[in-house]
Amino acid sequence: MKVLIVGGGGREHALAWKIRQSPLVREVLVAPGNAGTAQIARNVAIPAKDVKSLVELAKSERVDLVVVGPEEPLVLGLADELRAAKIDVLGPGASGARLEGSKAFAKEFLEAHRIPTALSKKFDRSGAAKAYLEAQKQWPLVIKADGLAAGKGVFVVQSAREGCTVVDQLMEEKKLGAAGARIVIEEFLVGEEISVLGITDGETILILEPVMDHKQVGDGDTGPNTGGMGVVSPHPTLTPRVMKQIEQHVLVPTLDGLRREEIEFRGVIFAGLMLTDSGPRVLEYNCRFGDPETQAVMRRLKSDLVPYLVAAARGKLIEQQAPEWDRRACVGVVAASDGYPGEYRRGDPIEGLEAADALEDVVVFQAGTRVQGRQAVSDGGRVLCVTALGKDLEEARERAYAGYDRIRYTGKFARRDIGQKRPVKSRVAR
Ligand code: AMP
Ligand code: GLY
Repeated sequence: MKVLIVGGGGREHALAWKIRQSPLVREVLVAPGNAGTAQIARNVAIPAKDVKSLVELAKSERVDLVVVGPEEPLVLGLADELRAAKIDVLGPGASGARLEGSKAFAKEFLEAHRIPTALSKKFDRSGAAKAYLEAQKQWPLVIKADGLAAGKGVFVVQSAREGCTVVDQLMEEKKLGAAGARIVIEEFLVGEEISVLGITDGETILILEPVMDHKQVGDGDTGPNTGGMGVVSPHPTLTPRVMKQIEQHVLVPTLDGLRREEIEFRGVIFAGLMLTDSGPRVLEYNCRFGDPETQAVMRRLKSDLVPYLVAAARGKLIEQQAPEWDRRACVGVVAASDGYPGEYRRGDPIEGLEAADALEDVVVFQAGTRVQGRQAVSDGGRVLCVTALGKDLEEARERAYAGYDRIRYTGKFARRDIGQKRPVKSRVAR
């Protein structure tokens, strides 16, 4: 088979790394890819949101399967166009991608299908939003831009004043463009976060090993939100009972809801959840593999990934057996570039990648990198993700940071607390 992976981040490097190990696969193309994918696959210089050129590429290269990494091309209808051209694709059409592309739509969907989530209200006028904020007594609250904002559209606000400033920035100053024309204001949920991803053909869902992402830029969950600064799998606090609740109260009703709304969904459903005292609640849906979640999931997946991707694309997931997982723990540490998640440095030469990769059970997935001459240079806010397996979280963590420490570039930084044990919170057994 010839497989085309769309995207150029750490997620796509991890997918390319895993997919090319499949005996079913002859060639892997990545568009546009990065310096890491260039070493193991063929990069094609087409941006991930150039739907027309990607469809042409898939046709002219006679690609057998397209795996779409980022959300934007899905929202723009890439999967619909590929399906119309009779090319197998893992990723929902534009109607399914609305689960991620519109927070207002996602909230309506969650409410309509009685899937547990934060209480919320939608606004398309700033005056009404501000009047609502002025009347609130419970803080903090969460304000979310409706549209895609690359992880920058969620604001936790502590007062009406702070909230009104955000509303003005989004709705009047249009800081996030059209994405902020509508907003959702919702209750603030407290608990541990968890990312649960499943590959689905709309009828059957194959749930991947749950992981914990670390969204905030600073140690101890401080500072602004990012795309994700590190990942741990298995999730350190998830119990089998809570996982059952997630399956029964979130994942199955999500699939049922999609079918009831006649939305065909062949791709990845990614539920970002808060494990609250009153059970798991959905924070958001994504319609694709997570980044950096995928880096850890691919390290732990022992079975061949490709048969699942093909089966989901063709609506035949029911015929697949459950995959085998490496029982060891995985920790992934994201190395970012100074300034991220704001304006960041780029163009700095990266040294030590091979030395890091040479460590036992360490694999470095590149993200914001590009080849300059024969050298990898930084080219994004999240530059790479050092993943490591270990017999337990502690060993995986030590190995991942040992790998991270071998890598050098100007402006490098990471959180130092990925996979660290957190203080246990008191709770009531239920
Ligand atoms: P989202 O893009 O909706 O997942 O939001 C990004 C991040 O903001 C989440 O991963 C959470 O860390 C945080 N967040 C979003 N919604 C809430 C909420 N209702 N309560 C607390 N934190 C939230
Ligand atoms: N790490 C969160 C995401 O992929 O959206």
